[in-house]
Amino acid sequence: AGSLYQEAYRDQYHYSAQQNWLNDPNGLIKYNGVYHMFYQHNPSGNEWGNMSWGHATSTDLIHWKEQEVAIPQSDDNAWVDFWMKTKDDAKPVHYIGRPTTNWDAGNPNGKRHIFSGSVILDKDNVAGFGKNTLIAYYTSTYQVAVRDDDYSKDSWGNYLGIREVQEQNMAYSTDGGKTFTKYNHQNPVIPATQVPTADAANFRDPKVVYDSENKQWVMPLVSGQEVDLFTSTNLKDWTYQSAIKREHDVGNGVWECPELIPMKVKGSNRTKWVLSLSVQLGAPAGGSGMQYFVGNFNGKKFIPETSETMKNPQWLDFGEDFYAGIIFGETPGRTIMLGWMSNWSYVGEQNTSPWHGEMTLPRELTLERSGNGYTINQSPVREVKRLGQSTERLGDRIITADAKKDTILPIRDFSGKQYRVSADFSWKEKQTPNRFGFRVRASEDGSKYIEVGYHPRSRTVYLDRTKDGEAITRQNTKVILDGRPNKIKLTVYVDSSSIEAFVNDGEKTLTQVVYPNPDHPSDTNKLSFFVNNGKVAVSKAVGSHLES
Ligand code: FRU
Repeated sequence: AGSLYQEAYRDQYHYSAQQNWLNDPNGLIKYNGVYHMFYQHNPSGNEWGNMSWGHATSTDLIHWKEQEVAIPQSDDNAWVDFWMKTKDDAKPVHYIGRPTTNWDAGNPNGKRHIFSGSVILDKDNVAGFGKNTLIAYYTSTYQVAVRDDDYSKDSWGNYLGIREVQEQNMAYSTDGGKTFTKYNHQNPVIPATQVPTADAANFRDPKVVYDSENKQWVMPLVSGQEVDLFTSTNLKDWTYQSAIKREHDVGNGVWECPELIPMKVKGSNRTKWVLSLSVQLGAPAGGSGMQYFVGNFNGKKFIPETSETMKNPQWLDFGEDFYAGIIFGETPGRTIMLGWMSNWSYVGEQNTSPWHGEMTLPRELTLERSGNGYTINQSPVREVKRLGQSTERLGDRIITADAKKDTILPIRDFSGKQYRVSADFSWKEKQTPNRFGFRVRASEDGSKYIEVGYHPRSRTVYLDRTKDGEAITRQNTKVILDGRPNKIKLTVYVDSSSIEAFVNDGEKTLTQVVYPNPDHPSDTNKLSFFVNNGKVAVSKAVGSHLES
C-alpha cells in the first residue's frame, strides 16, 4: 500500500518486497494469530544473490506488512575440513578451506547463503529452547576448495577446484519470528555426508511436518532428482529413513522444495499424504513447475497410492508461474499454499524495479476423489474477501460469431487492473464455438489484450499473451480438461502484472505473470467477452474490483 508501491507493474494484492529480489516462500506458519511469511530475499540487490530470509506478517493472509530481514546471510566463514564422497565421486574428496559464496576459494570474506526451508512451532519444548519457540530449518549453501587424496594440482597449480556444499541448519526464535539464533554448536543438523548417495551440491529445502500418528517430525528434502526423508523426535537429531526416486521422465530438471502434506480426502475421514515438489525444467508451460503424487506414509516411507502413481506426476498448475509452493503450518483443517509467481527459465527477463518477484495468492487446497485416484482442487483463500470489493453483474447474454470471425463484446463500465471476473459459459453442440472467453488487460483501442479462453473441441483452456505487446518468445499456456460437455466456468484474478485463472472452481489453474503494452502500460484497462465462430451463452457474469 501507499505510494511506494505504485510502479507500473507493481501487483497490488500479491505480495512483493518493497525493494529488491525475492523468490521462494519459506517457513510459512501461523503463530499467535499472525501469519508469518519468510522468503528467499536479496536484501541488497534486485537480482538473485546474498540469499537471506526476508519476512512479512499478516493477520488475514491478504494484507502483508514487510518486516526486517529475519535470517541474514551468514558470515560464518570458519575453516572447514572434511572428506566426502558424493554421487559422482569414485572415492572421497577432501573439502578444505574457508566457505565463500562467490566461487573464489581465496576470498577471506566468505559467506553462506540461507536457502529455502521451513519453520515449525515447538509448543512443548521438545528441543529445549523453551515452550512455543519457532524453529527454522534451512539449507546453508557455500562453496569451498576441494583436493583429491594425493593433493595433486592441475596445470595451473590449483587443487581440484571449488565445489558447492549444501547442508541443513537449524535456528530458533524466541521473539515470535523477528530474529533467529543459529544453533551453531550443532549445525549442520544434517550434513551432506549423512546420506552416502546424496548429491551434495543439490541437497536442500528441508520442510518439516508433524506426523501425529507416529508422534514424530518428518523432514523431506531434495537430493538431485530424489527426495530423502528424515525423522526426529527431539527436533535436533535426524535419522535418514528412505528415499523417493524419480520414476518418470516428465520434467527433467533438479527437484526442489519437496513437501509431505497430510490431507483429509474431501467428504471422508481418511487422511492421505501428498508428496509435492518443484521441478526446475520440463513443466507443461516450459521451465519450472510443481508436481504432486498421492499416497500414504508409514512413519518411514512414502508409499505411492498405486505402482503407477510415481510414473504419472500430476501438475499443480499449468501456467508458467507457480513455483516453490509450500503450505502454512499451524492452520488445522486447512491446507493453504503460497507459491513464488515465477519460473527459473526466464526470471531474468522480468526487469521490474526496484523490486523483482512476487507471491501468488494464498490458495486453499482440497484433495478429492477422481476416477481411480485423487486430485487437488485449488481456490484462493476465503480471506480474499477482505480486499475492498465492489461487485457488478456484467449481465447474462448470448454471443454469436460468424464463421471464422471474432465477436468482441467490450464491457463498457468495467475497467481497471485489479479485479476478479467470473462467468459460466455454455453452448449447444451444433453451434459449438471455436473459442470463447475473456480478453483482459486490453488497450483502449482493443489492439492489445490477453485472452483467457476455452477451445471446446480440444477441451483446452488457454492463456494467450502473444497479443499484449510484450516482446516475449513464449506462446500461450494451456491445460486440457477431463471432458465436461458444453459448459465451463472461468474465474480470472487480474493484477498489475499477473493473472491467476481458475477453471471450474479450481479443478485446474493457470498462473502467469504478464507485462502488457510496455510502451503504454497504463493503457491496458479494458475487459471484454469474445467468441469465435459459434454461439455461446454467458451467465452469472460478475466482476469485482479488488482494492488493497
Ligand atoms: C527454488 C530454489 C531452492 C533454493 C532456493 C535458492 O526456487 O532454487 O531450491 O533453496 O531457490 O534461492
